Amino acid sequence: MSSPAPAKRLYIKTYGCQMNVYDSERMADVLAPLGYGVTDDPAGADLVVLNTCHIREKATEKLYSELGKIREMKEARAAAGGQMMIAVAGCVAQAEGAEIMRRQPAVDLVVGPQAYHQLPELIARVHRARGERLAADFAPQAKFDALTAERRPTGVTAFLTVQEGCDKFCSFCVVPYTRGAEWSRGPDAIEAEARALADKGVREITLLGQNVNAYAGDGGLAGLVRRLAKIPGVERIRYTTSHPRDMDEALIAAHAEVAELMPYLHLPVQSGSDRILKAMNRGHTAESYLRLIERVRGSRPGIALSGDFIVGFPGERDADFEATLSLVREVGYASAFSFKYSRRPGTPAAAMPGQAAEEVKDERLARLQALLDDQQMAFNQSQAGRTLPVLFEKLGRHEGQLIGRSPYLQSVHAVAPDRLIGQIVPVRIESAARNSLAGALELEPA
Ligand code: 5AD
Ligand code: SF4
Repeated sequence: MSSPAPAKRLYIKTYGCQMNVYDSERMADVLAPLGYGVTDDPAGADLVVLNTCHIREKATEKLYSELGKIREMKEARAAAGGQMMIAVAGCVAQAEGAEIMRRQPAVDLVVGPQAYHQLPELIARVHRARGERLAADFAPQAKFDALTAERRPTGVTAFLTVQEGCDKFCSFCVVPYTRGAEWSRGPDAIEAEARALADKGVREITLLGQNVNAYAGDGGLAGLVRRLAKIPGVERIRYTTSHPRDMDEALIAAHAEVAELMPYLHLPVQSGSDRILKAMNRGHTAESYLRLIERVRGSRPGIALSGDFIVGFPGERDADFEATLSLVREVGYASAFSFKYSRRPGTPAAAMPGQAAEEVKDERLARLQALLDDQQMAFNQSQAGRTLPVLFEKLGRHEGQLIGRSPYLQSVHAVAPDRLIGQIVPVRIESAARNSLAGALELEPA
């Protein structure tokens, strides 16, 4: 996926105290995975960081006079066909903030001492604004990509990519760096593809995107869902993966009003601890997530909820992990994915203190998964005795049996004739296991 990063040169000028010297070293550390190596020649640098100090008088005036010189170097570089990025860090950055960029427009970014962990994000945003992709040396992460990978349409269900990229910059995640900014396909192209799929016999379409509910076409994702629901043959619509921050009222209302939109929502929360959620840069709290879930359930009672979780994030203490367990108990998930935190070079969390021991991660993951497994089993068992509309997809393992999906995305096995593949048929659920349901056709097919 990614080629090795082209070498970039980083010049850091440090003013003031030992603290600033230490901070400058840390900045160099967090930027190394993005391809930046330290140089002592500002004129040839791709990125110049002035790490400022407020302690002496006239620090601000000194900064602007230094910036004047650096700006000339930036202009000389641009004249020679190169580029230079200028960042101001440290206490003067903290005190002056955006004023620095107003007074010296050659400055690309300003970062206060509390925000060094955000440097990779800030730098990536400047690269993106120039239309560049960061060729950082991240190893391709097949495990996470596989969760959202597009698959070829096979039979009666299909994935349809409507959105790519991510602007959320969760501190553990490489996606914003490797996949670039959030981008949405035009609705006309999407509708055309959906019609073509329906013509080929597809009955269920899952709209895909790293942040699918950030879909920015007309009317947002809710508008797109309503539009696709009108296509003859499109009987079921799903979407994944969503971010809590982009779950708007229109989409919540669509769950009540659009019959084709299935009662299933994958809404990752990652952690139940506000302290950890903050360090993850998630932009929501446990409470705001729970309130959101309440609204979704108010709109579509009985909706199946799914989520992603990370255990052993840097700094996660027992109490934080317990908060995750209690959030899980409060929500009650129908299914979930849970992961041990894995350190991804170039992400802010990789440089955070308090990296958890492997045994701690193993133990927490086992406890979380035991709870989630119980919930999944309980959800499946709650369907026993009900009659569910099942979209049959393919032949089952046993003679005469078909496999399909319930509205809640559960696998359902039933004895049924082959010709029902591609049809939605009422099935009475007789038994439930953790990963599937078994049932019988409600009516003898004519
Ligand atoms: N470590 C562990 N899990 C991760 N995920 C993403 N990055 C990491 C990481 N560095 C998980 C998140 C995300 C899912 C797709 O993968 O839970 O929602
Ligand atoms: Fe974006 Fe999801 Fe990665 Fe967060 S976890 S940065 S929302 S892709």
